Amino acid sequence: MRTHLSLDLPALAAGEKVVLCGWAQRLRDHGGVLFIDLRDRAGLVQIVFHPERTEVFALAAQVRAEFVLAVTGVVRARPAGTENTALATGGLEIEATGLQILNAADALPFQLDEAGVSEAVRLKYRYLDLRRPELAGRLRLRHKLVSAARRYLEGQEFIEVETPILTRSTPEGARDYLVPSRTHPGHFFALPQSPQLFKQILMVGGLELYYQVTRCFRDEDLRADRQPEFTQLDIETSFLDEEAIMTLVEGLMAAVFKATLDLTIATPFARMTHAEAMRRFGSDKPDLRNPLELVEIADLMENVAFKVFAGPAGDPNGRVAALRLPGGADLSRKEIDDYTAFVATFGAKGLAYIKINDTSESGLQSPILKFLPPPVVREILARTRAQAGDIVFFGADKATVVAGALGALRQRLAVDRGFLGDGFRLTWIVDFPLLEYDETTRRFQAVHHPFTAPRAEDLPLLDQAPGAVRARAYDLVLNGTEIGGGSIRIHESAVQERMFEILGLEPDAAREKFGFLLDALRFGAPPHGGLAFGVDRLAALLSGAESIRDVIAFPKTQKATCPLTDAPSVVSAAQLAELHLRVDVPRDRDGGGHR
Ligand code: AMO
Ligand code: AMP
Repeated sequence: MRTHLSLDLPALAAGEKVVLCGWAQRLRDHGGVLFIDLRDRAGLVQIVFHPERTEVFALAAQVRAEFVLAVTGVVRARPAGTENTALATGGLEIEATGLQILNAADALPFQLDEAGVSEAVRLKYRYLDLRRPELAGRLRLRHKLVSAARRYLEGQEFIEVETPILTRSTPEGARDYLVPSRTHPGHFFALPQSPQLFKQILMVGGLELYYQVTRCFRDEDLRADRQPEFTQLDIETSFLDEEAIMTLVEGLMAAVFKATLDLTIATPFARMTHAEAMRRFGSDKPDLRNPLELVEIADLMENVAFKVFAGPAGDPNGRVAALRLPGGADLSRKEIDDYTAFVATFGAKGLAYIKINDTSESGLQSPILKFLPPPVVREILARTRAQAGDIVFFGADKATVVAGALGALRQRLAVDRGFLGDGFRLTWIVDFPLLEYDETTRRFQAVHHPFTAPRAEDLPLLDQAPGAVRARAYDLVLNGTEIGGGSIRIHESAVQERMFEILGLEPDAAREKFGFLLDALRFGAPPHGGLAFGVDRLAALLSGAESIRDVIAFPKTQKATCPLTDAPSVVSAAQLAELHLRVDVPRDRDGGGHR
């Protein structure tokens, strides 16, 4: 049908005859001459229709936005002064000699380049949204990412193996999506939260080097960087330790940056222990483009009269920390109130501060100055390196609350005040704790998942101080987002059984749920480990998208619905009966559903 793409045209000589296919993006009537910007997958080109060719001209006059066209014409240089340097084909135009309308289009619900169209509408008409070059460009970048990863891993002798979607629950910490079994009444498959157990079993199966680009399903509260179904680049290896795996992944990331953005990134990446990340940044996924840092001041607060600070300072699980914002003394009362409300969403009970109008004692302005002896104040200013014109914020609470609140404030302040640097800052976070204590269930739970191996030298602590055991786990963080994570796994059945026990799983329950894994580990399981990347998150960061929805062709909304197909939907009574299910939601409430 077509002879060339728009992008091929600049290489052609004037007078060359072409047939182009695409969509009518923009129509202009310049006093008797019609112009149509024709869009194909490669770009745009201007087509000119002259009234002398009466038939073609009459047809062109019927064209509306997004009609699908086949244009026959001749390449010709644009008259001097009418070139468009913003366009790859801006030096030329096509003088139309023939036109075929391949399909018409109704009036559009929105103009493709219209600003402010709601995301719900864009998702409902996703096929129109996909015609925007921004979105199409992001999908192309995502394709390059996955393609480069495949090439790299195949070069290292990895093979791609598919694992089941209809399976048993795999514990990655979210709720499962369940699928009822028709053939086994009352039984359910769970969609995989990750291929974790299958990839470990592939290692027991002797494959040694596995990867897969695969969908994972997690029914959890959605945020800009979370989708109920998302894609992992999943990797597992045998006989490699964490050093070798991290080196492999650094090579993989370098290949991905090169292929997608033509950037050469420096390897090896920075490495930071979990403890250091929490101490300096209040986060296990610190954005290293952000220069702000938390400073420890609990030791100064043990004996002060201010209970809000003295309490956590004397509590082994407590923390008192300060965060300096350079130039922040100009913050208004209202801005400080807004930040106080912001940290409250992370559980902070307040946000004390000292404004340093000048560094003399009378130059300090703060609601807590009256509680703090001058030497303590001086030491705070010294430790935070506060200068005239700065503000220092404080957090005092359980260490987890202080980290959550000040860690989030640190990022918010850097964004609001323009402190975030450019570029891509990658870091490994290592030495995660293996277990964390959950106050509500009063049990330890796995920080990564229950299959992560403890550090050998910490094994003796497993009984006396489970919270102090470090995991052989590593996360890769890019600009404040966890783009990947993994670990060396437990490969001995007895250790895995012990781990289930610590997590509060009775031996019978462990056998019932994970008997297949425990068995597999008993038949010659090699030492193994791996990791998984969040492909959507990585693609979003590389393409500068604000949400991972912008790098997914057909994403779900924040409420886990698909506006295009109107899923999820009610099903017929017959389907329910076949699945031995009864729904106890009134039909009318369910019917109008999520819309
Ligand atoms: P984890 O649960 O850390 O590890 O997931 C790996 C990576 O997947 C991405 N990710 C998500 N992306 C979008 N939406 C979500 N809801 C979502 N949840 C996770 C993140 C994360 O770093 N089986 C282990 C890996 C291993 O141990 O090898 C796992 O799934 O970028
Ligand atoms: P109050 O004495 O309650 O008025 O608190 C004095 C200052 O301490 C106010 O600026 C509060 O926002 C702040 N504040 C209260 N609780 C905390 C806390 N847990 N961490 C940090 N600041 C706090």
